[in-house]
Amino acid sequence: MEVRPLHPLFAAELVGADLRAAPSAELIDTVEAAMARYGVLVVRGTAIDDAQHKRFARAFGPLELPSRVPGALRPQGTRVFDPELFYAGNLDHNGEIIAYGSEGYKLAQGAERFHTDSSFHTMPTKWSLLLGHETPPPAAGGDTWFADARAAWDDLPQATKARIEPLVGIHDFWEGRRRAGLKGEITPEMRRVIPFPRVDHPLVRTLPSGRKALYIGGHCIGVVGLDPAEGALLVEELYAHATQDKYIYRHRWQQHDMTIWDNRCTMHAATPLLSNAFRRDMRRATINESGAEISAYDWMGLAEA
Ligand code: OGA
Ligand code: MN
Repeated sequence: MEVRPLHPLFAAELVGADLRAAPSAELIDTVEAAMARYGVLVVRGTAIDDAQHKRFARAFGPLELPSRVPGALRPQGTRVFDPELFYAGNLDHNGEIIAYGSEGYKLAQGAERFHTDSSFHTMPTKWSLLLGHETPPPAAGGDTWFADARAAWDDLPQATKARIEPLVGIHDFWEGRRRAGLKGEITPEMRRVIPFPRVDHPLVRTLPSGRKALYIGGHCIGVVGLDPAEGALLVEELYAHATQDKYIYRHRWQQHDMTIWDNRCTMHAATPLLSNAFRRDMRRATINESGAEISAYDWMGLAEA
């Protein structure tokens, strides 16, 4: 096995790993070490099924289970609901293409703003492992951008670091979606159907490696203790800083690619689909640092609407 850097700052490709077999201690150590250093790891040509995907993910932490949200408003739209995998592509539960930009797709377009998965809830998220079962051809859109929030932290002026390090960010699923371009007001009905409340997370995280990272992204809408407009402005300034070209690796998908990202120190963004002619079947296992395998709804005691 070999780990080859893909970008000057972060992101690497793991070559020569077979993800079909039960993960060996060597594979687990190699992936943990590469993730600690690079934050994003790409494995091409995996050709694994759902069971192998879940087994590989579980070697690094307990699965965060998807929350079952009823109704047309659910974040997964009319996508397949798998109790263990999040479906992130453009296929509905019949395998038909959900047209990009349509009613059934628009919530998913929130992912086009840089974000870190699951920051709108309180579980201790570790990594996401996204597998491309079917991917559009290169010119048809659907790439994924990744941003290194450790390098973005490192480069901040010392005075800014000192000012923001003690601060706590406010994360909100619906407000985040609105800022990502969802039209209209967020209604009580929407909050009833997807009842994630506002949650707090430190604006700056320290990783097990000792490095620090900005923890912001599309769901982060303000700062505890600041006037809402002032907090939103600070978060926007940090977002603009952290999503500069120099911090970004763009992944152009091929079928059977797996990308693994550390949600604690990277952000990612979907790019628009430029055609509705191509299937994009993307399935994501998400893992936590520790704890039971549970959905965020159950973890937070949110009643199903
Ligand atoms: C995700 C996600 C982006 C993409 O699965 O969490 O944001 O390009 N995906 O599919
Ligand atoms: Mn995501």
